[in-house]
Amino acid sequence: MSNKSFYITTPIYYPSAKLHIGHAYCTTIADAVARYHRLAGEEVFFLTGSDEHGQKIQEKAEAEGIKPIEYTDKIVAGFQNLWKLLHISNDDFIRTTQPRHEKVVQEIFRRVYDKGDIYKGSYKGLYCTPCESFWTELQLDENGCCPDCGRPVKEVAEEAYFFKMSNYADRILKHIEDNPDFIQPVSRRNEMINFIKQGLDDLCISRTSFDWGIPVPMDEKHVIYVWFDALTNYLTPIGFLDDQEKFNKFWPADVHLVGKEIVRFHSIIWPCILMALDLPLPKQIYGHGWLVVDGTKMSKSLGNVIDPIELIEKYGPDAIRYFLLREINLGQDGNFSELALVQRINADLANDLGNLLHRTLNMVGKFQNGQVLAPSGRSAIDDSLISDAMEAVRAFDEGMTGMKISNGVKAVWAFISRANKYIDETAPWALAKDPDKKQELANVMYNLIESMRIISVLIAPYMPVTAEKVWQQLNIPGEFKDVRLEDIRTWGGTPAGMHIGEAQQLFPRIELDKEDKVQPPKKEKQPKKEQGEKKAAAPAEDGLITIDDFGKVKLQVVEIVEAEPVPKADKLLKLIVDTGEGKRQVVSGIAQHYAIDELIGKRVILVMNLKPAKLRGVESQGMILAATKGDQLEVVTVDMPVGSVVR
Ligand code: ME8
Repeated sequence: MSNKSFYITTPIYYPSAKLHIGHAYCTTIADAVARYHRLAGEEVFFLTGSDEHGQKIQEKAEAEGIKPIEYTDKIVAGFQNLWKLLHISNDDFIRTTQPRHEKVVQEIFRRVYDKGDIYKGSYKGLYCTPCESFWTELQLDENGCCPDCGRPVKEVAEEAYFFKMSNYADRILKHIEDNPDFIQPVSRRNEMINFIKQGLDDLCISRTSFDWGIPVPMDEKHVIYVWFDALTNYLTPIGFLDDQEKFNKFWPADVHLVGKEIVRFHSIIWPCILMALDLPLPKQIYGHGWLVVDGTKMSKSLGNVIDPIELIEKYGPDAIRYFLLREINLGQDGNFSELALVQRINADLANDLGNLLHRTLNMVGKFQNGQVLAPSGRSAIDDSLISDAMEAVRAFDEGMTGMKISNGVKAVWAFISRANKYIDETAPWALAKDPDKKQELANVMYNLIESMRIISVLIAPYMPVTAEKVWQQLNIPGEFKDVRLEDIRTWGGTPAGMHIGEAQQLFPRIELDKEDKVQPPKKEKQPKKEQGEKKAAAPAEDGLITIDDFGKVKLQVVEIVEAEPVPKADKLLKLIVDTGEGKRQVVSGIAQHYAIDELIGKRVILVMNLKPAKLRGVESQGMILAATKGDQLEVVTVDMPVGSVVR
């Protein structure tokens, strides 16, 4: 392990409702970054939690006739369950209702008060309860409502404690201007600079109109403002007040990852509190965009929330994680749609990744009895594969350290496509037929297994469950949890002589109907589907068909005259066949079993009267018969003239 440490946080979420996929987005990003830094050998602390105080929560609990803590216990248990299902690897989960946190908040309040930066006054102004935010008249939106959520604000008037933010305005502005990385992306940074330049008012940091909060230590009828309470959560679990060594290791935080609407709290209020405490400021506040549905932010009040648990049950955690990390550029808003998710699963996971693993294991099994033989010598194609692998590792590093997560994912998938192409370029099935090409075949097999080894590590921050499955199927010695990035920075870590494990499907393809609608969840659908399938597959009680039934199928001998791969479909070939009466285009799933040259001139049997269908967007007019068993496949060939009828 290097002696570097890395501390990343998500916001702590309000238990005002169940979390939706937008919340899961932020936590998944933070998890991938944390996992990356662990892979890099750093000592990582990854924190998430729940922000449980405030008027909003108190009102919710009252509406249910229970105590606020009973209410939050119930909802927070749901958060923790969600993070478990999504394989979130947080090192701690802070609840603002925990005594360890209440102690820290009160101590911070006391220290800032003793310093003279907190004073008692009276507050008269506008407050948005759902956002727990104070606003001035000027800051309201064009309807006179909260500029963040658009809901009405309330006039409040009460005795209150104030934090002298004005004392720190110049320092914080200078810090932001001097440290371009402090607020990212740049658009958020510019917003904050403009905000501060308009002048910082002192911040009201206590309330007396409700009591669900942490009492002000020197005046117990006041409770501390939720944001003053919540922001300090970042200090509690890393040893502030009770473990100086741990605190020194992890503070200042490397990244506070937050949604764009709360960058203001993190990059202005929080640094002012830290300055008042004479503590260093976090290295970066990263404001990510929102997950939107048809251009509108997902939110419970708009009724457009998507439940992450339902999605996880339907598609598994890794597919959801992959989609969130790949599809959306971190700083920008990104649209969520189930169709887009399914398309990614089918194209990137089932096809690109799943096929590469399957083809690789299949060929090592078939051609070398499952053994990875020692490579010797390298061709130009091998060299280019190896240099592309090293480039993928570099681009992955760059994406993950520069918070350009989607770019990191894309770099890994570019290499997956590259490795699939390497199979087509080297045509191992042809090498396997030539006894003089044994070493060349061994080299290709080695390079494919080694590529998969590297890929398994590169996908680990994104898809931890799948990464481990790949590792197990490859059967590389050693435990996956002990693997580090260092292990894939040089080519050749796969030990020659090892035997591969058993191949298993990673991601089944998800069916879409004709209108591109996702089929209902497998679980609900299965009983119905089974009934339907039985009916279709068993026309008679005994399962037999009549000669008339068989006569409906028109089979004929045709000759393959052209063949080419179908783009982005490893298994498919587009064939042109001569029927004797003209030419037809047929798409056939035989790409992994034949080299193109082998097929030209073959006379095969075609189902002539099959309804035309599109496969991967390419029209297929008929189907070629093939015999299959396990992984073996051979098209049925005959030595009869083109146009002969098969009966
Ligand atoms: O703000 N897309 O909590 P919160 C992406 N307790 N992110 C979204 C989102 C969406 N559709 N909807 C919400 C709070 N989020 C405070 C934080 S930290 C000291 C206190 C994100 O539960 C949102 O942007 O309302 C924010 O970063 C996070 O969820 C928590 O929101």
